Amino acid sequence: MIRSVGVKITGIGRYVPQLTAANADYERIVDTSDEWITQRTGIKTRHISDGEPTYYLGLRAAQEAVADAGIEVSDIGLIIATTCTPDYYTPSTACLIQRGLGDSDCPAIDINCACSGFVYAVDMARRYLACGDIKRVLVVAAEELSKFVDYTDRSTCILFGDAAAAVVLEKSDDTLYSSFLAADGSGARFLAARALLTENPFRQHDSEFDMDMPVPNKHYLLQDGKEVYKFATKALPKAVENACKKADITPDELDAVIPHQANVRIIETAAKHLGLSMDKMILNISDYGNTSSASIPNAFYDAVKSGRIKRGDKVCFVGFGGGLTYGACVLEF
Ligand code: COA
Repeated sequence: MIRSVGVKITGIGRYVPQLTAANADYERIVDTSDEWITQRTGIKTRHISDGEPTYYLGLRAAQEAVADAGIEVSDIGLIIATTCTPDYYTPSTACLIQRGLGDSDCPAIDINCACSGFVYAVDMARRYLACGDIKRVLVVAAEELSKFVDYTDRSTCILFGDAAAAVVLEKSDDTLYSSFLAADGSGARFLAARALLTENPFRQHDSEFDMDMPVPNKHYLLQDGKEVYKFATKALPKAVENACKKADITPDELDAVIPHQANVRIIETAAKHLGLSMDKMILNISDYGNTSSASIPNAFYDAVKSGRIKRGDKVCFVGFGGGLTYGACVLEF
């Protein structure tokens, strides 16, 4: 096992909206069934915003993580928010969270790597921490997929939910840490939600610029489910294997893998490929659905609170999603 400069997770937090939508609720809005959704995805229910904005979910999760770390807001040296469903183009979600936390003038940035956002953010945080001038990073993953889900499209609307989860990270010398990050822009069109358009009075061309991307009605999320499924079942094991290889450990030496919660079948297929039993895979998809970048820290939160993951455990966060992006990091909790 290779030891290097890594991160210590000193605080965790989570917040989800009160409102829930169970499979039976979807039977009332689209032609689907609890049986189909359960068998094909493993999802039973999800939390859905009842008007609370994305930043607010993130703020509540961040407040819990800061309290859990036993620090003051002024101790945070950097806020990284990860979201593909922000409330504004500008200001960033990170700035809105900082405003809510108060007593902070640290740098605050958003990143958008869709469902891989948390893994990318943890790795970015570790690089900032390794430089030494920043002592603590607050990573907040906050998502409201309900903002761009088309609730008339049964193949996508049943998959997604809203949630936020946050961690406080500090530098940890001489510890287990490795990461593997990747992107494959050639698959960009397989999972896309278009930005909002405005009228431009100077525009002279009526026709759409051909971006070789889907042109959805409004800004709804469009997905080629089969292509994404194929990508995910390869990307997940590849990311875990590569991150483990860099740390000179084998996947079976991990105490837990916390995968992006997109579909239980994707996770089962990946576990088989990795030669891991499903006991190693942390799952909470049945209660939340796919909450994009919030899904990994949300599943981690439940596993820590239930005692499934303990201090000192070797864990692997692994994400995949729009972009297409994917990646994993291995660390000691
Ligand atoms: N309820 C009932 N039937 C549905 C349905 C629903 N909610 N959604 C789709 N179907 C139907 C399809 O219309 C199709 O019917 P047809 O055979 O009459 O045309 C049938 O079910 C099979 O569709 P298919 O797309 O082959 O299903 P699937 O087993 O591939 O499951 C997904 C569909 C979306 C669940 C699956 O492709 C998937 O999980 N893909 C990856 C999605 C993902 O993870 N996205 C996020 C990545 S971050």
